[in-house]
Amino acid sequence: MKFPYSEIVLEHFRHPRNVGQIENADGKATEGSPACGDMVSVYINVDATSNKITDIKFESYGCASNIATGSIITELAKGKTLDEAKKITWKEASDALGGLPKIKAHCSVLAIEGLRAAIQNYEERHGLIKEKKPTTVEVVNKRLKKVMNPISGLDLVRTNIVKDIKVDDGKVHVVIDLPPEHQFAPAIKEEIMEKIKPLWDVKEIKVEFME
Ligand code: FES
Repeated sequence: MKFPYSEIVLEHFRHPRNVGQIENADGKATEGSPACGDMVSVYINVDATSNKITDIKFESYGCASNIATGSIITELAKGKTLDEAKKITWKEASDALGGLPKIKAHCSVLAIEGLRAAIQNYEERHGLIKEKKPTTVEVVNKRLKKVMNPISGLDLVRTNIVKDIKVDDGKVHVVIDLPPEHQFAPAIKEEIMEKIKPLWDVKEIKVEFME
């Protein structure tokens, strides 16, 4: 059977570079694709003086295109400054792979979004965000779209279990429609905290589960 992939894609899929996690990474993010529900995590270490990416790893729960793109973007991003790495486009990644079938464009977009989100996470955690917009309910809602609901494999917002969000003077209150003793409640809470905490003006986060 002939796969609709270039030799380079197949080679990166079979032998992906920089796979895995970085323990205590300087920046990390997990992004999910609304198109297919797959996910990718990207971890980066950054030299604080030069702002260059010194190490990068990824884990993919996606398809061959996503794995190959994750692999190629780690190679493209390593050694680049954060600003340079932010500018890597899915088109560049796809070109470096010798092209991807059109139907698979969202898979490489997902990998690029993972990289950009990991950079954003680093910048937020290190006070490097230039445009300091205040955190609003919309901002929190957007972040909760990145938190998976393990019951369904889709995000918390799409599965309609976010019952309330309040933001008041740096205090964020999120209400989740799950009982506190639910087996996934601690993991969901942890992920919500992880996504909201880096926002520059957030001082306190309360995640409440409904009885
Ligand atoms: Fe989901 Fe490719 S089909 S990442």
